[in-house]
Amino acid sequence: MRHLPIVIAAALACALPAVAQTPAPPKPAAAPAPAARPTLLSVKDVMRRIVNPAAETYWAHSGVVDDEKGSNDRAPTTQAQWDISINSAAQLAEAGNLLMMEGRARDPNGPWMKYAQALNSAGIAGMAAATAKDHDKTFDAGSAIYDSCFNCHGRYIPRPKDSLYKHDIDKDLKDAGKAPK
Ligand code: HEC
Repeated sequence: MRHLPIVIAAALACALPAVAQTPAPPKPAAAPAPAARPTLLSVKDVMRRIVNPAAETYWAHSGVVDDEKGSNDRAPTTQAQWDISINSAAQLAEAGNLLMMEGRARDPNGPWMKYAQALNSAGIAGMAAATAKDHDKTFDAGSAIYDSCFNCHGRYIPRPKDSLYKHDIDKDLKDAGKAPK
């Protein structure tokens, strides 16, 4: 931080028009800083009770599944069904924030935040797609929602050493701007 040389500062002060000295009006009391709210549910319960049901609902209203009767397009056909999609996507969008709260974020300086933000934006994309009743975009948002789950689980749910599933932890760290461990 650089300071003005005193001479210049004094000259500037002199250049100000003289004002009558009236007492300053009392300042309104500063609003108290919001207290950090304690988290109520564990990550596991947020998953079980909020994230998973919302994601299942969203997926059940998007995409095409093939069954024995042939191709079955699950995209909504009524406003009430589109509203269900919008609502579940909204829950996912905010759930990303729940995962970033202090006390819940497992790794506040690492890729955890990136994955939680991916859930935020996938949820927002899901809301926009369902609001626009856009079939393809609803499907794309469903994939983005899925990717956010998959990536975070790959990194943060421990697996047995002989698991066939491999996750590139070094790449995650690099993406998050961290040195590989
Ligand atoms: C930012 C990280 C993150 C994201 C994003 C995420 N999860 Fe999870 N999830 C976890 C962690 C960590 C666990 C393990 C929690 C534990 O056992 O304590 C978990 C566990 C779960 C479980 C198991 C809960 C149980 O009963 O044991 C389900 C189901 C689940 N997640 C669903 C999802 C779905 C669906 C999505 C995407 C829509 C998702 N998760 C996105 C981190 C994440």
